[in-house]
Amino acid sequence: MSEKMRTLTEPFKIKMVEPLKVTTEDFRKEALKAAGYNTFLLRSSDVFIDFLTDSGTGAMSDKQWAGMMMGDESYAGAKSWEHLERVVKELTGMPYILPTHQGRAAERILYGILGGKNKVFISNTHFDTTRANIEFTGASAIDIIYDEAKDPEIDLPFKGNINLEKLNELIIHHGKENVAAVIITVTNNSSGGQPVSMANVKELRKICNTYNIPLVIDGCRVAENAYFIKHREEGYINKSCEEIAKEMLRLGDAFIMSAKKDGMVNMGGLLTVKDEALSVKCKNLLIISEGFTTYGGLSGRDMEALAIGLTEVFDEDYLHYRIRSTAYLGEKLRNKGIPVVWPIGGHAVYIDAKQLYKNIPINQYPGQALVCDLYIKGGIRAVEVGSLMFGKYDDKGELIPATNELVRLAIPRRVYTQSHIDYVLDIFDDILKLKNQTQGYKITYEPPFLRHFTARLDKL
Ligand code: F0G
Repeated sequence: MSEKMRTLTEPFKIKMVEPLKVTTEDFRKEALKAAGYNTFLLRSSDVFIDFLTDSGTGAMSDKQWAGMMMGDESYAGAKSWEHLERVVKELTGMPYILPTHQGRAAERILYGILGGKNKVFISNTHFDTTRANIEFTGASAIDIIYDEAKDPEIDLPFKGNINLEKLNELIIHHGKENVAAVIITVTNNSSGGQPVSMANVKELRKICNTYNIPLVIDGCRVAENAYFIKHREEGYINKSCEEIAKEMLRLGDAFIMSAKKDGMVNMGGLLTVKDEALSVKCKNLLIISEGFTTYGGLSGRDMEALAIGLTEVFDEDYLHYRIRSTAYLGEKLRNKGIPVVWPIGGHAVYIDAKQLYKNIPINQYPGQALVCDLYIKGGIRAVEVGSLMFGKYDDKGELIPATNELVRLAIPRRVYTQSHIDYVLDIFDDILKLKNQTQGYKITYEPPFLRHFTARLDKL
């Protein structure tokens, strides 16, 4: 049905609404100034379209809300846990399922056990919390995607793939006993939300078998990734996205999921493993820090909503709408002349601010300038993924820039309509008109780490 739909429409209707405040440009200028030109410090009630993240910001369905009323809040062996465990076992094919309060809790448990001094983790790209949890154990984290995938212009179907040749070299270089795990992140959030092919994961499985290294799938967007495989990889068009996700997850030794994404819930996480001895170690840590093994960090109603969300996310019409509506925004922006990371990924559109704001030097944060302009012009909240987020200083205090100066527009699931997206597109016409006049920013306060969350800036 969805292939025949000529106009992209939402395959759901609205039953509950949350009013949005319509503000003026003057109001937004004041609000942004008060927030130190950092959109993390804005009040969400002063934001019109919130593209800060797709994590935990989605809308639940009527079935999920109904399920919440059925949540079994028993401390141990709750019915809601049995429901969630059944769904996740079927999805992953793994026997040991641990619930956690969110993705990073699962990361802390698993990488706390596998990591340690002198250990190395290798991934297509580690997400920031993944890297932080690994480095916290004293281990190091190495990112390896193919060189051509780093070029924002090149049109390739699976730019999220891990570089298999480089992986072999690294394993030999570090010694297989020092490689704690290989982590494949699907889709690859930190490099444009780009998908990973099934062929790449199958090859990865073979390499992990050869060297006896565990393969972890960081699959918080595994359903979105499956849609790309179905439509881009030979041999998958007649399979359902659920079948594709199941096939991929069966290639892993462990699965980590921030359920706040494709779990379609506002809070939740999962850790699943194949190996019994490893599961015992994980469960012991889970009990110390998250909760008993049949609830982890979650209430019964959370588990009920997640069990239902993990089924709903594989609805083919939903996934078609989801991926196409992200692409709709990205493709229209590109047609207007906005430089975007290409092709468009699953959950977000990434804009190359260095290309767009050529007049703003890197040490004046062109990405943050675009983030500020989007808020002032349209009440749109985005996030800079560039030198404000990742920049460091040399001995002389000069900025060592990040690899790219990107701005991410992450789309919450089932929250905004096509007309909201069209509104965002209109605001970009104003951005294009202003692009040669806009100014850079300087940092006036920054904390010692993860500075982008709380830094304050001023206009130059
Ligand atoms: N792994 C990936 C690939 C992620 O994108 C995230 C979160 C996590 C792990 C951590 O999960 O937040 O539940 O603890 N990504 C969010 C984002 C925060 O905005 O991209 P968490």
